[in-house]
Amino acid sequence: MDKHYLYQNAVQCVEAEIDFVESTFEQLKGRPARSLREDFCGTAQTACEWIGRHPDNWAWAVDFDPLVLQWGNDHNLSMLENHQKNRIQLLNEDVLKVGTTKMGGQSMDAILAMNFSYFIFMERALMINYFQSVLTSLKNDGVFFLDAFGGYEAAKEIKEERECDGYTYIWEQASFNPINSQMQCYIHFVTDEGIKMDQAFDYYWRLWTLPEITEMLLTAGFSTAEVYWEGTDEATGEGDGIYTQSKIGTADASWVCYIVAEK
Ligand SMILES: C[S@@+](CC[C@H](N)C(=O)[O-])C[C@H]1O[C@@H](n2cnc3c(N)ncnc32)[C@H](O)[C@@H]1O
Repeated sequence: MDKHYLYQNAVQCVEAEIDFVESTFEQLKGRPARSLREDFCGTAQTACEWIGRHPDNWAWAVDFDPLVLQWGNDHNLSMLENHQKNRIQLLNEDVLKVGTTKMGGQSMDAILAMNFSYFIFMERALMINYFQSVLTSLKNDGVFFLDAFGGYEAAKEIKEERECDGYTYIWEQASFNPINSQMQCYIHFVTDEGIKMDQAFDYYWRLWTLPEITEMLLTAGFSTAEVYWEGTDEATGEGDGIYTQSKIGTADASWVCYIVAEK
């Protein structure tokens, strides 16, 4: 029972995430992105995927929890070849305080805030503050990538189970306060042998809406803030994993999308 291993396996799909970042950046800028900062990186799995994609790719991975960074170093960075390890740096820092000075004066092609981690900022002013600090860490043609979730089930108090290899992943929305849109969520795991890991991860955050997020990005100074909505597989009625820039979404029970903001 290693909660970070179970999390990576159940929650993250870094290949698809980096596919989206690579192709969208190239489509917008007409050149490949080479430098990437993964904010709220946890185990830095996404940054490691980035390093493996191209010999000129390099990355910073930022998280304020030294223990999760240590886990990422021991389990993810340790899997890289030596010449790859030289191209990734873990930074134990609050994302609100990371400017280019903390990154050796380097500015980035792409900065990522994934798995809704930035929902931790509850106040509009604080969120804009974070977005502004991202903006100053980007190159002049840099791009900020975020994801978001929503839909009418996002505000429900529910538990959802999903079978994984050898264990069950349980996502719980334990409470939701409609007055301030703040919610308590947990991830629990149960092995097939019945061993429980209750509240392995705990998230207290605000369920922001897409117009709020895009408005805050524009207020922070980004020149664009576009939503990329997932297409539908006609055969299954489920999402097809293809995200395209859209002005109209579908009123799904629950959805996940990307937001792409250009400096
Ligand atoms: C939801 S996990 C995201 C893990 C991974 N990036 C992913 O996409 O699944 C959120 C991470 O953000 C970190 N975190 C939360 N607030 C932070 C802050 N202000 N600065 C840096 N890291 C922060 C936590 O320590 C945790 O590892």
